[in-house]
Amino acid sequence: MNNLSVGVIVLAAGKGTRMKSNLHKVLHPVGGHAMIKHLLDTVSTLSPERSTIVVGADKAQLEAALTGVDFAVQEPQLGTGHAVMAAKESFAGFAGDVLILYGDVPLIRGSTLQAMLDARRSKAAPAAVVLGFTPSDPAAYGRLVKSDEGILNRIVEFKDASADERRITLCNSGVMCVDGAKLFNFLEKLNADNAAGEYYLTDLVEIANKAGERVLVVEASETEVCGVNSRSDLAYAESIFQDRMREQAMAAGATLIDPTSVYFSHDTVVGRDVLIEPNVVFGTGVVIEDGVTVKAFSHFEGAKISSGAVVGPYARLRPGANIGVGAKIGNFVEIKKSDIEAGAKVSHLSYIGDNRVGENANIGAGTITCNYDGYNKFKTEIGAGAFIGSNTALVAPVTIGDGAIIGAGSVITNDVIGDSLAVTRAQQKVIEGWAAKFRAKKIK
Ligand code: UD1
Ligand code: CA
Repeated sequence: MNNLSVGVIVLAAGKGTRMKSNLHKVLHPVGGHAMIKHLLDTVSTLSPERSTIVVGADKAQLEAALTGVDFAVQEPQLGTGHAVMAAKESFAGFAGDVLILYGDVPLIRGSTLQAMLDARRSKAAPAAVVLGFTPSDPAAYGRLVKSDEGILNRIVEFKDASADERRITLCNSGVMCVDGAKLFNFLEKLNADNAAGEYYLTDLVEIANKAGERVLVVEASETEVCGVNSRSDLAYAESIFQDRMREQAMAAGATLIDPTSVYFSHDTVVGRDVLIEPNVVFGTGVVIEDGVTVKAFSHFEGAKISSGAVVGPYARLRPGANIGVGAKIGNFVEIKKSDIEAGAKVSHLSYIGDNRVGENANIGAGTITCNYDGYNKFKTEIGAGAFIGSNTALVAPVTIGDGAIIGAGSVITNDVIGDSLAVTRAQQKVIEGWAAKFRAKKIK
């Protein structure tokens, strides 16, 4: 019984009108990742044999965004039971366990889905397992009506519930795990004889019981099954997700001085003994190795920070910023598509783009790489141990040799060979007594 295969049906045919968006609801991001991708990532940990997404007529955006899944079209949308029926063809001949998920309930944990599968495959051998939860406000959720023995007798939708039933606090999350050999037989018996005039998936419970089968309940926390119907729900889901990422980073050995002010992406990797000061944003594609210090008010995207580097405060790392071991990136420094090699320093007020900064090179305050002529981007190479004086403009393409020194305020347009000095500013002129004479003239 333990190695039955898993199939997944994700319901996503709802119109999502309350989002007031041109983007399909399930493509809205949480932690920089579409809601439906969160769900599919979680599901992939169970190695499903097939996955079908039930969509409405507006499926083009989903087809463009997702690969490796099947789509089934439900048009018109006549309820959650009707939606699952739309996946019948994709599941022909499938006799494993079918997980039914909602595309707009993205934060469900893999361990919870596994617990449902385990319950389905337990000795009690229930035909279905329903994921319940006890919300702080049960509002209009469907209520789970259990027997004294803990068997789920039926799910009653709020609209159809009696006053007594509405007092039940255990609610239906919507997520179910059903024996694939029986699912579509149960669904054939659905009718739309209810307050909403819809084919309710929830009626499957009563149908199973009538057929002499058992249905059990597994419970999840309220945060895990939060659904997104509006932008406000989306912000709530984001907050739940961020809290998880913060906990995960701290559990892995990072110190977050003010966790609630640090924002992660779904794929942020944070090492051990990393210190993250307040107000830091991690866009997608960021890797922070062990022992890195990230100072306050920094913003990263598509960047790698190697072990022992110190970055910020107010640092901006854009895609392709690759910060070497023990390097230092200081305040108001923007780095794009550049390798800053081990021990190099870019400490103040710089733009470094399309660049290689060699080991232990020192980039003075205000240095700018002029990497763009309005049409094309060009590369700057700075050798190991080079010293670039403050307020230098490096007009790419240009190469500075190892150990070269550039005098402050230079505009460098030609290559500089190693261990030489290059300066382009005009000679300083001093006229003794000029200032005193000037003032004397003015004061009279
Ligand atoms: C459903 C459950 C309710 C549960 C609640 C949890 C039913 C009958 N009710 O109610 O017990 O407490 O979820 O949030 O199942 N969808 C389709 N096609 C349809 C209808 C819905 O794909 O024809 C999809 C929606 O896109 C959504 C999900 O199914 O992702 C749930 O639909 P929704 O209308 O929100 O169900 P509720 O009425 O909230
Ligand atoms: Ca809903």
